[in-house]
Order: sequence, then structure tokens, then C-alpha cells
Amino acid sequence: MYTTIVFALVSSVFVAATIPVNVEVDTECKTCPYSLCPNKLSYDWEYDTTNKTLNCWTEGTPIVNDTTWLKTSDGCYVTQYDLKEYAGDYTNDLPYCGHVSPRWTKAEGRTRYMTQCNLGPWVDRNVIKNYKYGVDLHLTCVSPRVGEEILGKKKWYKTSSNCYVSETTLWPVEDEHDLDDCGPIPRRLSLVDRVPETTTVETSTPTPFPKPSVVSTPTASPTPKSMTRTAAHVESRHKFQRRFLYNDTIGEEYVNCTANGFPPSNPGRVVRLYEFRHEVILQCGSMYNDTIFLFTTDFCWIKDAQTFEQLTTSTERTDYFPHCERFTDLES
Ligand SMILES: *[C@@H]1O[C@H](CO)[C@@H](O)[C@H](O)[C@H]1NC(C)=O
Ligand SMILES: *[C@@H]1O[C@H](CO)[C@@H](O)[C@H](O)[C@H]1NC(C)=O
Ligand SMILES: *[C@@H]1O[C@H](CO)[C@@H](O)[C@H](O)[C@H]1NC(C)=O
Ligand SMILES: *[C@@H]1O[C@H](CO)[C@@H](O)[C@H](O)[C@H]1NC(C)=O
Ligand SMILES: *[C@@H]1O[C@H](CO)[C@@H](O)[C@H](O)[C@H]1NC(C)=O
Repeated sequence: MYTTIVFALVSSVFVAATIPVNVEVDTECKTCPYSLCPNKLSYDWEYDTTNKTLNCWTEGTPIVNDTTWLKTSDGCYVTQYDLKEYAGDYTNDLPYCGHVSPRWTKAEGRTRYMTQCNLGPWVDRNVIKNYKYGVDLHLTCVSPRVGEEILGKKKWYKTSSNCYVSETTLWPVEDEHDLDDCGPIPRRLSLVDRVPETTTVETSTPTPFPKPSVVSTPTASPTPKSMTRTAAHVESRHKFQRRFLYNDTIGEEYVNCTANGFPPSNPGRVVRLYEFRHEVILQCGSMYNDTIFLFTTDFCWIKDAQTFEQLTTSTERTDYFPHCERFTDLES
């Protein structure tokens, strides 16, 4: 009698000890069940059709509305929200993993320029934060190889807001060796699979940059501009998709880069005098009375019409280049 009961208990635990399931979307398998924990693996719903084996459940960061995370036989945690629908209840059918403590590394960073913080380390991913320059950031991991190269640098860091900033927009991170590698990052992770819909509303956009077609011809400028424009455009189309920090060259003989830029009646002091073909790197743009002003990495303003490859010659760029007014986040 006694032995039978023991046997029954033991078997009920062991029968349901693991459950096979696949992921429904691309997702991260983390070293602990919290957003800021580094990734151990990236699960791809489309190309990896093998089931994951779930071993136990625990609680962690709410993903949309779901706080349950499952530990897989890969030894990492995946959010229930990204798994294929399960008819049962994992919290009944699997053992409890126990409480898992949050653990991630920390280092301080500081934005050097206007800085977009994206859902993934690629410029086309959702923008989660828009940090102004000079903002102190709490970094949680470094991604040296996975992300997109920005002006020759490929490294990205994750901040305490669970988004990625490019090395190019930061001052050098002194304690970088303290940081864990962020691990593999799913390219197609979607914002709607991370936060409740209500919080994803876009902040109101300033007057959009005009589209190429409606742009009037730039004001008369010295000859230099013309010649190779068309060829240059075709060649460099891909880089127009950049959402921030693109390099350009000056298209006029002399251009004053001024502290205020606008209003034209009060441009402020001349910070830099650029000569024809001088390379400029542009952080963001602002519209003033139908004129586009661009903010350079010298922290002064020029007009778009004074550049060689104008913002308004590309739909991608006018659509995606950030407005300076957006960079209002002053905290990590
Ligand atoms: C994966 O597991 C599910 C049950 O969750 C099962 O229906 C399916 O057949 C399994 N697929 C593979 C490829 O093993
Ligand atoms: C989360 O929301 C979805 C859709 O409203 C619902 O089907 C699901 O049961 C919710 N999950 C939890 C854990 O509350
Ligand atoms: C931007 O920089 C790259 C690499 O230095 C260069 O090849 C390219 O011509 C530059 N683009 C412009 C518009 O100056
Ligand atoms: C630049 O500003 C100076 C005054 O600081 C002015 O004399 C000069 O004409 C300006 N140059 C251009 C190209 O606007
Ligand atoms: C904006 O442009 C209009 C017409 O071009 C002009 O009347 C107005 O004074 C300008 N506003 C400012 C603040 O410069």
C-alpha cells in the first residue's frame, strides 16, 4: 500500500518531466529569465523546425502580458509568449525550476552624439530610445560581431532599457572588458512580441522631411556640385537606408557651420568653416520654414542644400533620417 503511493507520486512527476514544443517567432534563449540577461542562443522559428525540450518553468520579466519563462534542454530560458500554443498549463505539467536570480554585467558609457537605441543592433530595427549626446548610459553587454557596421565600427552595446546603441555614437567605453557578450541576437525579433500594444505608439513626428519629388531645386551654388551626382547616387543607394550618422561632403565652395543654424536671422557663431569636398558626418536634421538644417558631428548646423548628396535626393533617407527634436531621452 505504502510503496504503491510512493510509486504513483514519483511516476506522475517523471512522466511529465519534459515537454517538446517549438517557438512561434524568432526569439532569444537567455541565461536567466529577464530581458537584460545575455542570450545563450537565438531560436529561429522558420529554419529550425526541431522541437525544443522544456524542462521546467519559472517567473521572470513580463513579456507583453506573460511572466512565465521555460528552461529548455539547451540550458537557457525562453519566454512562454514566444512558444507555440500549449493546450495544458506548463506551471502544472512541468516542475518549477525554482527562483532564478537576475544576473548581468554592468559598465558605464556616455553618448558622444545623438544616439538611437534600437530593438536589435541594426539600423532598421524599432527605435526604443533616442538619447541626446552627453547622456550617461548603463550598459549591460557588448555585441562585437553580430550587428551592423556604422561608419566602420561594428560593435554595439545593450543599455539598461534593453536596446542597442552603436559604438560609433558613444565615447569609448572604459570598462568594456567587464561586459559579457550579448550572445546571438535574433535578426527578426519583433517589438509587438515584447511589449503590450498600447505602449508601442510612436511619439508624434515633427514636420516630415520633404520627399524628393516635391523638393525645389537647391539655391544656385558654384559649379562643383553637378557632375557625378547620378552615378554617385546609384552606387550609394544602400547606405541611404541608414537612419542616423551618415557621411557626406560639402557641395559648395565655403560653408559656415553655425552654432544655431536657424533661425537664419540668428545663426550664432561660426563653429567651423567647411570647404568644398570637406567630409561631414551628420547626426540628425531639423526643418525650419521648409529649409532642412543638418547637425554635424562638430555640433554645428549646415543646410542640406549645401551638401553634396542631399538628404532630399533619397526617399529612404527623408523617410528615416532622424529629426534632431526626437533626441530627448536623458536617462539610460
Ligand atoms: C513537436 O512537438 C509537438 C508537440 O508539442 C508535436 O505535435 C510535433 O509533432 C513535434 N514536432 C516534431 C518535428 O517533432
Ligand atoms: C495575454 O493576452 C492574450 C491576448 O489578450 C491572452 O490570450 C493571454 O491569455 C494572455 N496571457 C496571460 C498570461 O495573461
Ligand atoms: C563616406 O565614406 C566612405 C568611406 O570613407 C566613402 O567611400 C564615401 O564616398 C563617403 N560618402 C560621401 C558621400 O562622402
Ligand atoms: C561666414 O561667416 C563670416 C562671418 O563670420 C562671413 O564673413 C562669411 O561671409 C561667411 N561665409 C559664408 C560662405 O557664408
Ligand atoms: C518663414 O517663411 C515665411 C515666408 O517665406 C516668412 O514670411 C517668415 O518670416 C519666415 N519665418 C521665420 C520665423 O523666419
